[in-house]
Amino acid sequence: MTANPLAPDLQPTDDVNSFASGVWPDALEREGDTATLRQLPLTSLAAEFGTPLLVVDEVQVRDRARTTRETFERAFDDVAVYYAGKALLTVDVAKWMHEEGLRVDVCSLGEFTVAMRAGVPASNLGFHGNNKSDTELQTAIEAGIGSIVLDSAEEIDRVARFASEAGVVQPVRLRVSIGVHASTHEYLATSHEDQKFGVATADVPDLVDRIRALPSLNLLGLHTHIGSQIVASDGFIEAAKRMLGLHARLVADQPVPELNLGGGFGISYTAGEPDIDLAAFAEELAEAVTAECESLGIDRPKLCFEPGRSIVGTAGITLYEVGTVKPVTVDGGERLYVSVDGGMSDNARPALYEAQYSARIVSRASDAQPVVSRVVGMHCESGDIVVDAEWLPEDIGRGDLLAVAATGAYCHSLSSNYNMTPRPGIVAVDDEGARLIVRPESLQDLLARDVGADAPENVSKENS
Ligand code: LLP
Repeated sequence: MTANPLAPDLQPTDDVNSFASGVWPDALEREGDTATLRQLPLTSLAAEFGTPLLVVDEVQVRDRARTTRETFERAFDDVAVYYAGKALLTVDVAKWMHEEGLRVDVCSLGEFTVAMRAGVPASNLGFHGNNKSDTELQTAIEAGIGSIVLDSAEEIDRVARFASEAGVVQPVRLRVSIGVHASTHEYLATSHEDQKFGVATADVPDLVDRIRALPSLNLLGLHTHIGSQIVASDGFIEAAKRMLGLHARLVADQPVPELNLGGGFGISYTAGEPDIDLAAFAEELAEAVTAECESLGIDRPKLCFEPGRSIVGTAGITLYEVGTVKPVTVDGGERLYVSVDGGMSDNARPALYEAQYSARIVSRASDAQPVVSRVVGMHCESGDIVVDAEWLPEDIGRGDLLAVAATGAYCHSLSSNYNMTPRPGIVAVDDEGARLIVRPESLQDLLARDVGADAPENVSKENS
């Protein structure tokens, strides 16, 4: 097969049935017509829980969480790994992280509440955000949160005031915009100059003096996060060196125990797309950090990391039912438009970042010819794309069950009720079976917040 001009980046293939390794969950298998995750047929999950449905392999998530922690522990001895809850946070997911020895990083009162409900001790939580409200800060401080990442000069005084009112000394970090231009989508790069996060490098010494002068604050160290979905190690290494340079200036005055280098480790969404080899990266970083500390003449600080996507991303798949299938002639070629019963309301990433995904029919195998296909949602927007380009068999049709890979991170958390669409549920699968960890939204859920729905004159209209 040759490359198709409508999808030049799509590697030609004759195989529309196999699951590319590293993209799909490790425990996903196909035998004949039946695709199973941990022995559970995906068709049974769809029949029991409905579609669209986010299916998360709990064993793989726990495994990634634990191996990430162990990998960094091996490389650095003294290290703390925070799971970045923004990637996917439910009470169960927070519990898994806690049980696997990770801390949890939250960035809103909602995420904080979920983590607390899961029983994660407040001392194991870190709080991020460029615009934390008074309520968020007060609630977190009163609960005894382990660290607050200060994101601006004005936040220093607010946190100090709330800590002093609560009668505690609050551990804090200071987020620095370190000026490394990470090679990722512009909206996913967070540490170049022209963006909203952190404080400028030049301001760090003065701001640290201010923090140190406030008796209700205890400076744990500096923080940076250069961006997300990054697979090359050079940006992380460069950021680490620059941060150590800043750290060394602070240590000259008083000890600073920690340095937080954030998250951002990339995964593969499509066959052949590279991910980051975390074990090799951790070793490379450890060497660079050790060498830099030696040349600066400082002790190696305790390092902290905040991975999200690399822990949950490829452990999740979304199941959709195929509806309308429509060949569309474009520039002398043909693209098959395959509509599914979800879309940008459960996965906004293609619309937001032109993110690429992979898809397979999982209700049967097919030996039909592969054709260039675009999986689209059911929303009223032409940008409502789920999978921009994929080889799917030309006999795909209404009623087929389609799975999209690597939807574990930033799909549920970015989901919306666009077009008054109920959000999908989440099912966790392990070797014992499947269980709902977030139930699907119902139309009643949607009406529940619409005050007009309960007005006496409207109550009887819904069924008329
Ligand atoms: N730490 C901080 C301070 C962060 O802002 C983030 C992500 C992370 C850690 C975790 O990054 P990860 O390891 O998951 O890459 N919605 C976008 C991603 C936004 C990331 C925001 N911050 C997406 O869907 O790709």
